[in-house]
Amino acid sequence: GLALDIGGPLAEGFSRLGLASQIGVAFASFLFLSVLLNVLKQVLFRNPNEPPVVFHWFPFVGSTITYGMDPPRFFKENRKKYGDCFTFILLGKKTTVYVGPKGNDFILNGKIRDVCAEEIYHPLTTPVFGKDVVYDCPNSKLMEQKKFMKVALTTEAFRSYVPIISDEVTSYFKRCPDFKGKSGVVNICPKMAQITIFTASHALQGKEIRDKFDETLADLYHDLDMGFTPINFMLHWAPLPWNKRRDHAQRTVAKIYMDTIKARRARGETGAQDIMYHLMNSTYKNGVKVPDHEVAHMMIALLMAGQHSSSSTSSWIMLRLASRPDIMEELYQEQIKNLGPDLPPLTYEDLAKLPLNQAIVKETLRLHAPIHSIMRAVKQPMPVPGTKYVIPPNHVLLAAPGVSATDEQYFPQPMLWEPHRWEKDSPLAPSIVRNAPDNGEEEEEKIDYGYGLVSKGTASPYLPFGAGRHRCIGEQFANVQLQTIVAMTVRLFRFRNVDGQEGVVGTDYASLFSRPLEPANIVWERRDAAQA
Ligand code: HEM
Repeated sequence: GLALDIGGPLAEGFSRLGLASQIGVAFASFLFLSVLLNVLKQVLFRNPNEPPVVFHWFPFVGSTITYGMDPPRFFKENRKKYGDCFTFILLGKKTTVYVGPKGNDFILNGKIRDVCAEEIYHPLTTPVFGKDVVYDCPNSKLMEQKKFMKVALTTEAFRSYVPIISDEVTSYFKRCPDFKGKSGVVNICPKMAQITIFTASHALQGKEIRDKFDETLADLYHDLDMGFTPINFMLHWAPLPWNKRRDHAQRTVAKIYMDTIKARRARGETGAQDIMYHLMNSTYKNGVKVPDHEVAHMMIALLMAGQHSSSSTSSWIMLRLASRPDIMEELYQEQIKNLGPDLPPLTYEDLAKLPLNQAIVKETLRLHAPIHSIMRAVKQPMPVPGTKYVIPPNHVLLAAPGVSATDEQYFPQPMLWEPHRWEKDSPLAPSIVRNAPDNGEEEEEKIDYGYGLVSKGTASPYLPFGAGRHRCIGEQFANVQLQTIVAMTVRLFRFRNVDGQEGVVGTDYASLFSRPLEPANIVWERRDAAQA
């Protein structure tokens, strides 16, 4: 029977219950006791050498639910209660958040012996990307892989990408049945997801791969994507249907890339500007040529990294423009004024002549950065400078650069989407813009982690692309891609909100990347009705 030591009459009553009820009572007692112990522990034993722990009733569950429903709100509310550095329980794991520029620096510029990204990301990413790349290899190898990718993204390459991207955008809007006629209503998110994958695959992986997205690759990438959900942090290994489809898709996509690489090698191709071509011809410092399967796996990793972030950002941009038709009109006038009334084919150089177009991307990433939480495993005790705290090795560190990007201290009226704030004389300009030197040069400290100089980002409250050794290498590509998509869309359409709707839809935090809640409907209207 159940060995519960509860006094005579109680035990008698208990033994008269059926087995199911006995288990029920035992479970309720167990739950009650564990909640009680958990609460007592928090109230009585506060370790002054560790950050405060966010109060929670249940062990293991901890703050998982309040965090998961709205991470930015969770960070803000607890920062008010506990300060910039606090710990919460995420699925049983002690997770220490440290927000603000100091926190970003502490975590993102952490030493390799102190913090580790691959330990966290590996279970989720390796089955999707494949072996021997990114988080399935030593960090020094990732640094070399990032260098190969970054080196491939030259000005010459970007020059070739702008026409590719603008043609993809124009031809997409021409053939998409949801944009037939003079005007209509559309859920913009799936449309931007498609435009993102067509433009990124064409520019970064060449026309051959791009064309396969009209057939097999779209479904295969969808299956890969299904492996990329938060639940797979725990269940990545399980023989579940979606994991089987993920594994099949990984093998099939990798084979498509490897066959393409073989064919390109056989053709003796020279001088191409896509990343695949550059990786095919790269050599590690130890003299080993990058093997074909690694090129294939890096192709998957790049497309996945770029897809979610750029697609969500471009959807937010379109939604913001629909909520501010005046800004969309200004963007059109900016192109007329700075590029000429005939709106010639867009070039890479043109993008620099469109400051408002650039600011649209910047301001949207400030409020809607697709990555709300950046995590690292702690490898050895880490003293937090200027405090008594030492973060122990069983903790996970969590950086949330979005918190400083929406902090009144740095950005006046922080929740207001206002692209003009990135102009130096705007009353809403953040101090990083107001105090920037006139020659446009950054004074920021730079550092090389093995993939070229990057700004340390220590002082900046605005880090949508991260900082440190894991910083994004896709920033420039994403900017070129997003600015081109916006410029071409503005040439074709006027957007506005559906009648009766104000502002923009809320954010969906249920997947790994934050994105608009769907359906995110907007009204579109062709500028030149004769084109319809
Ligand atoms: C890393 C954001 C687009 C490739 C990162 C990180 C952030 C980020 C915050 C740091 C993650 C960490 O520290 O754990 C973004 C945003 C994008 C974007 C906001 C678009 C709006 C892209 C694109 C590519 C790309 C288009 C590929 C062409 C990468 C790679 C890393 C990275 C390879 C390095 C991962 C590592 O070193 O661990 N990105 N990204 N990203 N991103 Fe991006």
